[in-house]
Parts: sequence; C-alpha cells; structure tokens
Amino acid sequence: MKVLVIGSGAREHALVRALLRDSKVTAVVAAPGNAGIAAEVQTCAVDVKDAAAIAALAGDLGVDLVVIGPEGPLVAGAADAVRARGIGCFGPSAAAAQIEGSKAFAKQVMADAGVPTAQAFVCTSRADIENALTAFGAPYVVKDDGLAAGKGVVVTSDLAEALDHAMTCLTAGSQVVIEEFLDGPEVSLFAITDGTTVIPLVPAQDFKRVGDGDAGPNTGGMGAYAPLPWAPVGLVDEVMASVLQPTVDVMRERGTPFSGLLYAGLALTSRGVRVIEFNARFGDPETQVVLALLESPITDLLLGSARGTLHEIDAPRWGGAAAVTVVVAAAGYPASPRIGDPITGIATADAKDGVSVLHAGTILSDSGEVLSNGGRVLSVTVTGDSLSEARVRAYAALDCISLAGSHARRDIAAKAAGEI
Ligand code: AMP
Ligand code: GLY
Repeated sequence: MKVLVIGSGAREHALVRALLRDSKVTAVVAAPGNAGIAAEVQTCAVDVKDAAAIAALAGDLGVDLVVIGPEGPLVAGAADAVRARGIGCFGPSAAAAQIEGSKAFAKQVMADAGVPTAQAFVCTSRADIENALTAFGAPYVVKDDGLAAGKGVVVTSDLAEALDHAMTCLTAGSQVVIEEFLDGPEVSLFAITDGTTVIPLVPAQDFKRVGDGDAGPNTGGMGAYAPLPWAPVGLVDEVMASVLQPTVDVMRERGTPFSGLLYAGLALTSRGVRVIEFNARFGDPETQVVLALLESPITDLLLGSARGTLHEIDAPRWGGAAAVTVVVAAAGYPASPRIGDPITGIATADAKDGVSVLHAGTILSDSGEVLSNGGRVLSVTVTGDSLSEARVRAYAALDCISLAGSHARRDIAAKAAGEI
C-alpha cells in the first residue's frame, strides 16, 4: 500500500515513521514534509491550503490512502476532494471539520449530544463581550471562534487584557467565544472513528504554555507524555460514554458524519470531566508520544476509518511503559520565531537508546545543512521503562542538539514522574 501524508510537522514525521514500521505499507510520500521527513521518504511540494492540489497530487502519485495531518486542509475540504477522486482518505469532510474550525459549531454539537463542557457565550458585539466577562468573572477565558494554531485563546485575570483580546478577535472575524473557567488537569484523548465505531487511543498530556511551571503565553504545544499514571481508573471508558460516542453519533445524525481522528481536549474539574475543545485531527505534540507506544499496525486504524470497517478490527496493542516528547522551539517563539539558524547534533541525539528526533520546522539549505524553518523546530521523542527514565533520556538527547537562541521546557512530565 502506498500512502501520502499531508503536512510538515513533527506529528507528520511521527506518522511517517509509524507507517514505515507497518509491513502493509510499501511506500510513503509526504507533502510538503520537512528536512527530517525528506531524509526518510519521497517528498513533494504542495500548498496545504489548496484542497484540489492535494487531491491532484494523490491522483498523480497513485496512492491508496491519504492521511491529512493539519486542520487547515481539512477545513478547506481536502478530504472531500481526495474522496471525490475515489482515493481513500483519513480525515473528516470540511463540514465535519467544523467541530474544530468553529468553536461556536463545536458548542452546538456538544449541546445536542449532551456532552459536558464549559458554559459559553458567543459574542458578536462589544456589549455582548462586556456582559459575558461580567457574568463569568475572573479568570476570564476568551477564544477566537476560528482556527488560530493553538494561539487564539487567552486565559487571564486581567479584565483589560481579556477585553482587548476579545475585541481583536471580533475585529478579525465576526464572533468571539467567552466561557467559564475550567480548573483541574488537562487530558488529550484521541479516538479513531469511521463515523459510527469509535476506538480510543491512550490518553496523553500536552504542555501548552511556553515556560516551565506553565509560565507565559499559550503555544502550539511544548511537550507531551503518555500514559498518565495519575489518571482516574475508568477515565477512558467514561469519556467514551459521555463524550466521544455521543459526539460521533450526533455528527452522523445531523448529516455531517465525522471520520478520522476526533481529539477531545478535556479538563478533569472538581465537578467532573469537561470538554475544553475538540480537534479534527491528530494533536501535536501528543501524537509523537501516542504513536511511540502503538505496537499494532497503524494502517489497521487509518484504513478502518477511511473504509468504514473499524468494527472489524482488533483493539490497538500498546507497548513500552512510557513516552515523553520535548519540543525544541526557535528563538522568539511563539510571538515571532526566528528562522534560518543551523541545527547540529540531531544524528547524535537520534542514535541514542529509545530516542527519535522528529523534525517540525526544519529545511535543508543548498549546502545540505539543516536549518530552522518554524517556531517549533524539533520534537525529541523518547520511550523508557518509566516516565523518569524517558525524561532522563529525552533531556540527555536534547543536550546533544544545538540551535542558537532555542528554548525548551525542562519540566515535561516531571510532575507525573513524581519529580516535582
Ligand atoms: P483551546 O485552543 O480551546 O484548546 O485552548 C487552549 C488552552 O487554553 C487549553 O489547553 C487550556 O489550557 C486553556 N483553556 C481553554 N479553555 C479553557 C477554559 N474554559 N478554562 C480554563 N482554561 C482553558
Ligand atoms: N496539542 C494541541 C493541538 O494539537 O492542538
């Protein structure tokens, strides 16, 4: 089987490596990929915002399956365009991807499905915003309605900052979502679905803030680990019953069946599990740790979703005790990442026990040097017999890598490993 992976992040690098481990896969092509992906498989240029170009590329390459990594192409209809050519596709239609593309749409689906989430107001004027902020009080949670690469949400106790972000979102789009603050630890639970059958993967935790101890602004994600030793027993079953299955059922019943990966971002609050957000695709960086633990062939899940045959497959098998990924971010990330700096030490780090250095924002220079080319540059992904061992290995590998001005969190999985 020949598979085309769309995207250029460490998530896509993890998908490429998982596909290469699968004996059913004869060839993998990535578009556009990055320097690390290009060292392992064929890559092609493509504008990921152009659904027709993605479908045409899949046709030209004669692939059997297209796996779409990022939300942008999904919301732009890439899965619809691929399927219209009779090619199998892992990823939801544009209509179903609205569960990520519009927070207001997601809130409506959750209301219809009886899924527990934060109370929210969808505001279309300054007066609405002021009323909503007053109604909830601090800390304020203000969300851009549309896609914002993980950076559209401001959580703050400063009323002026909340109002300012809300007005910026309103000016840029037509509406802004203001919601109740949810306390408690966050969990990312991914489920593979074909629109009817739902198969949960292992829960993971992402570190969204830029700095140690959750200081600084939100980012696309600075690190992750799985599994979660502290998670309550029965969490996955509970989320399946109260969140994932009802959401998939409602999406099907309303005529926008969801196939692909449904990502539930959850808060385990003192009043129970609440959905913070849904995404319509694999999360980054959680995918790096989830796939590091997946032992059964990934195509069972991807093809089962694309073909509507998930009810026929066995439950996924998991190996390895623990996985940790630490993101190496460029100088200035997230506000204004600097690009074009040389990176050294990747091969030394990648050769270490249990280590997989996955590339995100990297590009090869004309002279064959690996240069930074984005905010999140590398995702150093490591397995171990425990979270502590994986952490030791991850930071030892990270210390082999040099990129001027780069920064990484040093506390990924530290609390879960009982170290802080
Ligand atoms: P989102 O893009 O909706 O996942 O939000 C990004 C991050 O903002 C989440 O991972 C949370 O850390 C935080 N956040 C979002 N919504 C809430 C909420 N209602 N209460 C507390 N924190 C939130
Ligand atoms: N890890 C956050 C995201 O993928 O949106």
